Amino acid sequence: MATTILVGAQWGDEGKGKIIDVLTDRHDIVVRYAGGNNAGHTVELGPEKFVLHLIPSGILRRGKVCVIGNGVVVDPVALVKEIDELEDRGVAVGHGGGAKLLLSETAHLVLPYHRSLDEQREAAKGSGRIGTTKRGIGPAYSDKAARTGLRVIDLMKPERFSEKLRQKVEENNEILKAFGAQPLSFEEINASYLEAGKRLRPFVANTVVYLHEALKKRKSVLFEGAQGTFLDIDHGTYPYVTSSNTTAGGACTGSGVPPHRMDTVVGVVKAYTTRVGEGPLPTEDNMIGDLLHGLGREFGATTGRPRRCGWFDAVAVRYAAMINGIDQLAVTNLDGLDTVAKIKMCVAYKAGGRTYETIPNDLDVLKQCQPVYIEFDGWLGDTSGAKDFDDLPKKARGYLKKLAALTGTKMSIVSIGPRREQTIVL
Ligand code: GDP
Ligand code: IMO
Ligand code: MG
Repeated sequence: MATTILVGAQWGDEGKGKIIDVLTDRHDIVVRYAGGNNAGHTVELGPEKFVLHLIPSGILRRGKVCVIGNGVVVDPVALVKEIDELEDRGVAVGHGGGAKLLLSETAHLVLPYHRSLDEQREAAKGSGRIGTTKRGIGPAYSDKAARTGLRVIDLMKPERFSEKLRQKVEENNEILKAFGAQPLSFEEINASYLEAGKRLRPFVANTVVYLHEALKKRKSVLFEGAQGTFLDIDHGTYPYVTSSNTTAGGACTGSGVPPHRMDTVVGVVKAYTTRVGEGPLPTEDNMIGDLLHGLGREFGATTGRPRRCGWFDAVAVRYAAMINGIDQLAVTNLDGLDTVAKIKMCVAYKAGGRTYETIPNDLDVLKQCQPVYIEFDGWLGDTSGAKDFDDLPKKARGYLKKLAALTGTKMSIVSIGPRREQTIVL
């Protein structure tokens, strides 16, 4: 594998962190290219559970290089905290034979006024809220697009940073006042950000040049997608989306590696569907949600919110396979269906007397869509110890084969538990 893009092919939380950890073994470099600390990528190693937010999940394997690319929005205080927490748990970041971290100098910064604005805008929307993670992601990308953002490269020049920051805080305090919210202190933000900037300085690099030099040396690179296809700002269920291009194209713009250097796209899906936050979820079903929550599963890795759950949606994933150009599909959480007697899979939608075989862009139509299901008898057995595909119950194999056929994908990985060894590579 020379270069691999890994994307979520549903609404996020597909198990990308776990699959990244598995695939990191076969790559030299892991790159985050979009999103920020709205992401929560879980990797379980034996009894230890790590949740990565900004740092690529490859950090848990020694000798790898982890890159936070230009497309990511970075809260530097949160990043320092994440580094410290990893180091406290014995994961070396950037020295001592552990994995090495690089931070793009052109990545945009998330500032406290972005978080406050995120919160205020959500509150103002009331029942029309998006259900964001309140990490300031939308406002930070808004500043980037408006060409008024502050970047890592600014933070590396304290005087320039403070000058720009003073202006930005003044401007944003006026907006916050209009919302009736507390204004923020320039001095406090300035001090904490400059302190974080000092800590991050050794990691800051021109990561575009670094990646191109690494590719010239035939290093293999894994691009770690965050969020999921239907949270993409262009291709998702707008406006119930995040503010970046989470899909495969984002790996190019968010890292500076051109399209013709990309070899493989791996899409990750759960064997069912989850979504956290508001917005349409055609196959939502409380029965499966109650069952999974009862097992202590499907609570958000970043916010702890219970995730909404539903049946596998082959219409949506077929669309995701098209948008991302998915070459290989990784199906996670198959074991989540181990105790379900009748399993459903959505093969089309019906709305207003019409049948849809692709996900409609008009949210009013999508909200009316009723899924057309096919049903499977459950396998009613424990899959979590399976070592290869043939170890799986026949009915589980049938379910997976149908899932691949209906989504037009080639299945390459089946995951039957959160740990590394609970992975079947086909
Ligand atoms: P990500 O954001 O896509 O990395 O996914 P999250 O980490 O937010 O959520 C996925 C959850 O499923 C985490 O708790 C993982 O530990 C867990 N997980 C991943 N694959 C499997 C699996 O095959 N079986 C089980 N039981 N849990 C899994
Ligand atoms: P990972 O990488 C699941 C959702 C939020 C909300 C919407 C917008 O762990 O899969 P934002 O804070 O980005 O402005 O919120 O997007 N969301 C995610 N849902 N997994 C994520 O990341 C998500 N990141 C954002 O819940 O609905
Ligand atoms: Mg997650």
